[in-house]
Formats: sequence, structure tokens, C-alpha cells
Amino acid sequence: MDISSILQGGYQHPLSRSWQARSPLTKSMLMYPIFITDDPSACVEIKSLPGQCRWGVDRLEGFLGPLVKKGLKSVILFGVPVNCQKDERGTPADDPNGPVILAIKTIRKLFPEIYIACDVCLCEYTSHGHCGFLADDGSGTILTAPSVQRIAQVALAYASAGAHCVAPSDMMDGRIKEIKRALIDGGFGNRCTLMSYSAKFASGLYGPFREAAGSAPSFGDRKCYQLPPSARGLARRAIVGSSRIFLTFLFPALPQITLCLTSISHLISLLAHLTPFHSEQIRDMGEGADIIMVKPSLPYLDIIASAKELASDHVIACYQVSGEYAMVCAGADAGVYELKTLAFETVESMVRADPPFFVHLVYTPTLQLLLSFAHANVELTGATLILTYFTPQFLDWLEA
Ligand code: PBG
Ligand code: ZN
Repeated sequence: MDISSILQGGYQHPLSRSWQARSPLTKSMLMYPIFITDDPSACVEIKSLPGQCRWGVDRLEGFLGPLVKKGLKSVILFGVPVNCQKDERGTPADDPNGPVILAIKTIRKLFPEIYIACDVCLCEYTSHGHCGFLADDGSGTILTAPSVQRIAQVALAYASAGAHCVAPSDMMDGRIKEIKRALIDGGFGNRCTLMSYSAKFASGLYGPFREAAGSAPSFGDRKCYQLPPSARGLARRAIVGSSRIFLTFLFPALPQITLCLTSISHLISLLAHLTPFHSEQIRDMGEGADIIMVKPSLPYLDIIASAKELASDHVIACYQVSGEYAMVCAGADAGVYELKTLAFETVESMVRADPPFFVHLVYTPTLQLLLSFAHANVELTGATLILTYFTPQFLDWLEA
């Protein structure tokens, strides 16, 4: 089966179906990142992430039970192996007795209604702490081909263990295609969602996470695979690599063009020819991603809007990362603002971060296009899936 013909992996679960809707902030839009360690009875507080712990699998029932009662719908799992032998290729990542695979099975058994996503990366499991394989000449060069093969293997292991979604955060070129291929060939093409950390920036905001997950690189940094914070162009190319400069020039003129057109069917056929589906798609959309993620979120709201513009028919996710969470908490502790106010303000800005109106005109499906003529204020959104450590609090704060 061809990669681009697989859509079912993106909506195989009632929850992933709900993410296709454009709506105000609700509980089902929140995904809670949790850290699973290999001591089954662990509950170790993470100092730099107030209120968050590393959990052992035996503690998951007590930890998640009350949250499920309050309406928790989904989690994303991060493995934090402490008692394992890390090596060059990240062997412990798909250890059948490792924390992630055991946690998937445990959560599926305890809470079958919970949607389980798994972060897929090697940095928590490699001796050098980098997200891919390194050349052995000491230059720090990433070996892309073997890295993506290994990452696809790990993703398939998580899907086989029962994950509803695999989410590669490594930023190796070509890993989306390799993972999608592995999922399809392994029989999971229509059973497992592929969420790509597409536009992941080399941010200063990952510090608390690296402490929590023990995944800081032992030397160098991640700048040769994560994006430079100033790079809008690279972010757009990581999401969809088509060359649509011609169309971009046309956008400002579209409202005038539409006014001149007398027949609505002429207009629709014109717009149909301008959709991105007529141009070549490479990178994450073309490689088979079901969900496109932007990370971090608050300093990159423009990138969330760009993602929605480029991938308007995909679910757009964003990750309010550890440093963003710690920042909001620290300001509240210092009395600068109220925690709840800022938690809402930040997350709602991510939902709101939508592209300009004239872009909607071109990219939305035909029916919505017609509606948008009738109601100029048709509601559209930026991200509809938000990964946030504030999820437990939002479950208290939100009604539904
Ligand atoms: C590992 C990974 C990181 C995060 C998610 N997956 C850290 C990194 O890339 O260094 C960051 C999440 C957070 O800060 O909350 N590839
Ligand atoms: Zn990594």
C-alpha cells in the first residue's frame, strides 16, 4: 500500500476522531505527558517540574485513576530508565520489559478508555544522550539512515504493545516515512496514529525535561537536528516541502479576485486548482504524518499558525514544554500573576493561533468555503491538541 493513501491510522480511536473538530478548549484536547521509570514502585518528585513525578508502573493505578475520573482522555509516555545499560544504539528503548512497554500494557488493562501516545526517541536510552546514532570518528555527525531504521523499529514495538499513537521527537530526516512504512508493513497502518514532532526547535525550554528524563546529551548540543529558533522557513519545509511561492504571491489578491467572479462554481474550481494537494508534498505531511506538532509553543505561536495554514486538513498539535510550564509556575510563585489565569491565557493562545482569513478561503474544504462566504466570522483554530503538564489542573478548571 502506498504511504500517502493511508488515512485510517489518523482516526482509529474515538479520541483521535474528536481532534479533527475545530472547537474551543475542552478536556479532550489535552494530552498529559508522564514519565515512567523502571522501579515499579517509584514516585519520585521532579524538582524543576513542580507537581510532576517519575512514576513506576505499579503506581499508575493510584496516579491516573483519580485523573481518569475527572475526565483525563490521553497521556503521552516518556521512558526514564535508571537501572539499565545504555549503549550507542539505545537498546533499552524497546526492551519488552522496559518501562514504556510495561506502562502501555498496564494502562491499557487498567484504563481501556485512555488514549496512549508514546514519545519515540533514543536520547533517553543512548550512552551519549543524542537522539540518533553518531559516526564513530568523534565528529558528532548523525548517521541518518541507521538512526531512522532504529527509530522505526522502536515505534513499531510500541504500536505492537498497544500504543494508540507513536510520536517521534528525534528530528532525524526521513523518520516519518520510515515509521509509517514499518507501521503499515507490521499491520498497524490503520491502528496506530503517527504524530510528528515536525517543527521542533533547539530551545532553551527543555531543561527541566532533560533533568526529569536523564536525557541531556553527554557532549555537544542538538543544533544539528533541532531547528534554529529564528527559522520559519525550515519549520515550514519540515511540515510540507512543496514549493508554492507562486500561490503565496496570489493570496493577497484573492479577495479581489473572488469579488470579480460572478459564478460560485468558477470560483470553486479556481480554488481547487490552488490547493496544496496539486503541488508536490515532501517531508512530514507527504511522508505520512497524521498529526503535525509544533514545539515549544508560546514563543512559536506564529509557527502554529503556519502549520495550520500548510496542513489545514491535518490535526495540529503543540507541546507546552517543561520550561514553559516551569516558567508559568515560577511567575505565579513570585506573585507576578495568578497561575490559573496564565495557564488559560497561554493554552488558549495556542488554540487561537490560526492563519489569516484569506488563507482559510483557499484551504478549507468546499462546504466550509461556501459557509465562509455566508459567515465571514467562521470559527477556525490553531492547535486542537495540546500536550501540557497543566492537564491535571485543567481537568479541575474545565467543565467538559
Ligand atoms: C527528547 C524530547 C525532549 C522533549 C520531548 N522529547 C527534549 C529534547 O529534545 O531535548 C522536551 C519536552 C519538554 O521539555 O517538556 N527527544
Ligand atoms: Zn531525543
